[in-house]
Amino acid sequence: MTSFPNTIDFAGLNQPVGIECSHHDLVVEGAIPDDVRGTFYRAVPDPVFPPLFEDDTALSGDGMISKLDFRADGGVDFDLRYVRTARYEAEQAAGRALFGRYRNPFTDIAEARGVDRTVANTTPVWHAGKLLMTKEDGRAYRIDPDTLATIGSHDFDGALKSETMTAHVRIDPVTGEMFFFGYEADGIASTKVSYCIADAEGRLVREQWFDGPYCSMMHDFAITEHYALFPVFPTTASRARIEAGGAHWIHEPELASWVGIMPRYGDVSEMRWFEGPRGVSVYHMMNAFEDGAGGVHLDQCLSSTNAFPFIQRASGISIAPWEMKGGLTRWSFDMNGSGPGTGIAERPLGPPGDFPRIADADQGRPYHHGWYCTMNPEAKGPPIVGGPVGAMFNMLLRIEPETGRLDALPLPPAHCLNEPVHVPSHTPGHEGWLIMIVDHQTGANDFAHAAWIVDAGKIAAGPVAKIHIPARLRPQVHGWWVSAAQRAEALS
Ligand SMILES: [Fe+2]
Repeated sequence: MTSFPNTIDFAGLNQPVGIECSHHDLVVEGAIPDDVRGTFYRAVPDPVFPPLFEDDTALSGDGMISKLDFRADGGVDFDLRYVRTARYEAEQAAGRALFGRYRNPFTDIAEARGVDRTVANTTPVWHAGKLLMTKEDGRAYRIDPDTLATIGSHDFDGALKSETMTAHVRIDPVTGEMFFFGYEADGIASTKVSYCIADAEGRLVREQWFDGPYCSMMHDFAITEHYALFPVFPTTASRARIEAGGAHWIHEPELASWVGIMPRYGDVSEMRWFEGPRGVSVYHMMNAFEDGAGGVHLDQCLSSTNAFPFIQRASGISIAPWEMKGGLTRWSFDMNGSGPGTGIAERPLGPPGDFPRIADADQGRPYHHGWYCTMNPEAKGPPIVGGPVGAMFNMLLRIEPETGRLDALPLPPAHCLNEPVHVPSHTPGHEGWLIMIVDHQTGANDFAHAAWIVDAGKIAAGPVAKIHIPARLRPQVHGWWVSAAQRAEALS
């Protein structure tokens, strides 16, 4: 194509921007809390060239990494750069798109053959002083945290065997270890899943492989103090379909979901599979924890089918967004005994939504509260077009899962939000701060953007500060907060 398609994946907020920029001393409205000193890294897909196929998805966009630096003197700087992936460089050299359908190399132009296809556009991950840009279809790219220059593909000094690494790692707050996995670990539509542990110094100390019940889009997983949990939902890949030039993923409503649970330091042969409901879908888990009596609990953003329109189309599923059911849901597992799991107890916790966030210190432990994004049921007018679903969230929630207590921050009309990061507070008893990019539609194709800082324990009170960003921003996927102390430690 010579121009970008006129579809929801390239319209509204999703309209490609493709401009690298730096802006210093941004205009700040309100007061930035003293706790907020460090860097908010964001992953943003933004395609350089019009795609080869009109039905391409927003998920294919070249990865950009953005940072908002909250300086020690209270000033704020902004930078946005492309990740120089092998794919980005190959297309730059050709001056056009070379790669075909989403995760289908059989639709690529010949010049693309053998080139790493990942666009590293999903999550910036900080661990052991290194900054990585991740996407689940390949290995991560390492990025210079100061200049945002691309260092290269990251294979843990040659130790990683898996061809893929999830964009959703879990870092234990006590040990500092990073737990992660990769599905399709040895190639397209494979059932092989790698399970890896990097120690607090960033060394890959363990990699094991196991077979999932089928090849599934395993986007996220969870850990507890003693277990690793691998949820499997029936969005599936078929090698024959992909080789024929078809969609990588279709959703299969009649297929069961599964959760594999094993001791997190154990052997994959100890995995116990629990069968779950048919046809459901989850992209993100809020947290998992143990109750001390043999119960393991997994809190996740569950929906009745896959939420992505491009996957629904490929699957022949026709469902209006408002007909989709689901919500923040707890699945509980009885780990007493041995052998195959004995079912899953399900309990609704909160309204539908996504982009769950907890304090890093609560990872894998019983927790009191978390946050996620949702649609305001009282908002007037259609949602802002953006992201892979084509509709942006317009309300922030704080939830106490045990009591069901909800607090909400509904945004003004014509505003929407991207996933927040959590910044811990130094004040005992204070829940910390959330920082999120809020987009404001100011015209048919015009948007203004600001980072809002909200008291995490009092979200309904609205922002304590807004930092105006004088650049057009495409929707972010995920973000990561790195404190000034973590940045300084990485330099020492
Ligand atoms: Fe994600």
